[in-house]
Order: sequence, then C-alpha cells, then structure tokens
Amino acid sequence: MTATSADFSRPPGPQEAVSLGIDPETLATLRGLRDTYGDLVSMQRPNGRLAYFVNDPVEVRKILVKRHTRYNKGPGFERVKMLLGNGLIVSDGDTWRRSRTMIQPAFSRQKVHDLTDIMLECARTLERRWSAAVAAGETINITEETNRFALDLIVISTFGDDAAPWIATEGNNPFEFLSRDSARDLTVVMRVREVRRLLLELIQARRSRAGQQHFDFMSMYLAARDKSGQPFSDEELLDELITLVVAGFETSANTLNWAWYLLSSHPEIEQAVIDEAGEFLPDAAAVNHDNAGAMVYTQQVLEETLRLYPPVWLFTRRSHSEDEIADFDVPVGTDIYLSPYLLHRTDRYWPNPDTFDPSRFALDDQPKKERPYFPFSLGPRRCLGEYFSFLEMKIHLGLLLPRFRMSLADPGDPGLELGINLRSARDIMLQPSHR
Ligand code: HEM
Repeated sequence: MTATSADFSRPPGPQEAVSLGIDPETLATLRGLRDTYGDLVSMQRPNGRLAYFVNDPVEVRKILVKRHTRYNKGPGFERVKMLLGNGLIVSDGDTWRRSRTMIQPAFSRQKVHDLTDIMLECARTLERRWSAAVAAGETINITEETNRFALDLIVISTFGDDAAPWIATEGNNPFEFLSRDSARDLTVVMRVREVRRLLLELIQARRSRAGQQHFDFMSMYLAARDKSGQPFSDEELLDELITLVVAGFETSANTLNWAWYLLSSHPEIEQAVIDEAGEFLPDAAAVNHDNAGAMVYTQQVLEETLRLYPPVWLFTRRSHSEDEIADFDVPVGTDIYLSPYLLHRTDRYWPNPDTFDPSRFALDDQPKKERPYFPFSLGPRRCLGEYFSFLEMKIHLGLLLPRFRMSLADPGDPGLELGINLRSARDIMLQPSHR
C-alpha cells in the first residue's frame, strides 16, 4: 500500500489540498482542522503527498515510542540539513543509531555534573553585566541575554578552553550568527562553511595534542568508538559538534526567555522560586548539582513554562513502512504532523490551559502522567540534553532571580514567532533593580 493507492482507510479531512510549513499559518491551519475534523485528520499537500495530523495523545505516543522504527524525520528537516549535515537531530536509521550509541555516554548525569562550574560561571557573567545595567539605569533585553547565556554555555561545554578566545571578545563567537539569523538561507550556508573550517582546525589540533586531558563534549566525541571500534570521521564529527551547539542553544535560551516573562508577571510564583533558591543556593559557593537538583519547585516552573511554550512546537515524521493509526492505514510516504503546542493547551487534558500554574507538575499530582506532555519528545529519539538543560536553567534562575527584581518594561503580549523554534515575536525588555 502506498499513499497514492486508492483503497486504504484514512481519517476524515478536507477535499482540497492543504499547505503546511513550519510557520504561524500552519498553527492556525492545524487548529482549524482539529476543530473541524477531530483528533485525526488526513489531507493532501499541494505536492501531492498524503499528510496526517495526529492530535490524539495515545497515537502520538505510539508513533514516537513503540512504532518509531517505522518513521523517519519528516518535512522541514531538509532545510535543517543545510546546517546540520547528517548530525543526530536529522539522521535516521543505522546512521542515527550508531551516532546515538556513541554520543549517549557524554550525557550521563555524572558527566553533566562536571559541567556545573561552567554553568555557574556563565550565570555570573550575566550577574556582572546586569549589575552594571542597574547602576546605569538601563533596561535589559532578556531575549538577547538568555541567548547569550545559553550560547556561551553550550560553546564552552563543547569546546572547553579552545572556546575562551571566542567568548572573551564580543562578536568573536563563530556561532553567534545562530542567535541573530533565523533564516536558513545562503548567508547561513556561507557561515556554516566558515565554522566547519575553523572546527576542523580545532579537531586536528586536539588530535595532535592526544593524551592531554580535556573535559568537554568535544573530547568525549573524539574518544567515542562504535561497535567495531571506529571513531567518528572528521565530517561526522563536524556534523555532530554543530548539531550539539544548535540543539543545545536556542531551546534553552527560549525557555529561559519565556520563564523570565512569566515570572515577571506572576509575583507569587516568582517569590516561591526566590525562597527555594534562598534555601538551596544561598550563594555561589553552594551551587552544585545536588543543591540545584533539590529545587523541585523551580523544576515545576520550568516544566510549566515548557508546557506553555514548547520550543519545538511542531514535530514532523514520514512513514517508510506501513503502519496503522487508530483504525486507519498509514501508507508508506505519509507525512505526519504532531504539535506539543496544541496538545499542551487542550483543556480536556489541561484545565485552564492558558494559565501559568506550576502546581500542575507537583510531585503528588499523579494524573499528570496521563496528560499529553512532550516538550523533549518521547521514545528513543527523546532529547539527549534534557538533564543538562534543567540543570543549566535552575542554576541560571536560582542565582539571578534572588538578586534582580525585574519588571516588564513593555507589558504587552510579546507574541509568538513560530519557526523551527518557538520564540517571542518581539524581544522582551525588563527593567532591573537590585533586591
Ligand atoms: C529546554 C531545552 C530543550 C528542549 C525543549 C529540547 C527539545 C528537544 C526535542 C523536542 C528533540 C527531538 C526533536 C524531534 O524528534 O524532532 C530534541 C533532540 C535533541 N536534543 Fe534537545 N532540547 C533541549 C535542550 C537540549 C540541550 C541543552 C542539548 C545539548 C546539550 C540538546 C541536545 C539534543 C540532541 C543531541 C537531540 C537529538 C536526539 C536524537 O535524535 O537522538 N537538547 N531536543
């Protein structure tokens, strides 16, 4: 059975072709289709491909977890490939499995704990800059600041001391274009080429210094071996290192951007985070993974932020084997669309879905397990950086929130920019003062 065969059973949907991208129109389209046809919708795309929009939590879980081997990454990823080559986020099948097995050990809790000092140092850099802003009476562009924090952190965690000269001088970070340039266009291709040239030199220099102990993701990737004892080739390494920076930067930056926005307009929740930070991170000397890990309320705040603003708001897949969704057939070549953003805001599962309420994630709230929630995806392709990102975000908020009172300089809704990542449409400006 293929998507062009006539006799297969498919969910209800519109007769006319439907345009789907990764953009604001697509969110409105998917919402409209769900409201008209229900949780499973089929449609034809203008290119003739069959597409299903799956908004049923049980079926979403099946696609991402139990039946994941029947699906590859879907539409939209061709553009990302320009940037990431064949790195972990975009690769499929045996290539993905080999890389994932080689890379996974670098993300063990123990290894991530060794990066805690870097997380602290990056937060302290912001503390110094924000103190200067308070003294000068300046507002803070928190969107830029969280971008800078997350980018510096992932770049130093990946390249260690080699990244120091990039961070020390403003405008010197070869990855900085990622935070400014969301368009995956020709300028990006040029910049990626430059970055690859630079990283190749770095890889070669590291190899010639073999034996010297560096602790960072790059050293772990260099030491990784597959089942037959082979390391990554230079090309593979370049793809994986760039993938790591891209995967690890914008997602955390956007989550922190939204967290500051939500906290600055919810003073009681903000105070509860400050109280918790006072208990577990009273000063910089107390920052370690145990103390940050114990900040369960801050964790709930971040989980709730990710419910409202999941950075990856739309997942796509393409079937390469036949499957079934509910009682419907999935022919080979069907495009699948899944939206955490829409499911996270469905009132059937999340009462008052637009309200910011971290207590939904309280530990004793058992029904949460039955609710659709997948900001980090689910199953074997689930995010590798989940633990890293919660630790970095707790250290960031735990250190900075008790020191700076932030009020929204422009209280209007910042709006959504629905690209590959869900960003705020306009930068969020905060007026800081010392507490
Ligand atoms: C709040 C922060 C983050 C969120 C919400 C997030 C979300 C996600 C999602 C949804 C995916 C799967 C995408 C898909 O299947 O289409 C993913 C994959 C991935 N993420 Fe994250 N991510 C975050 C932070 C990080 C960080 C900090 C790192 C690295 C340090 C990272 C590394 C990765 C990698 C390597 C993959 C590919 C996994 C694979 O395909 O095997 N992520 N992430």
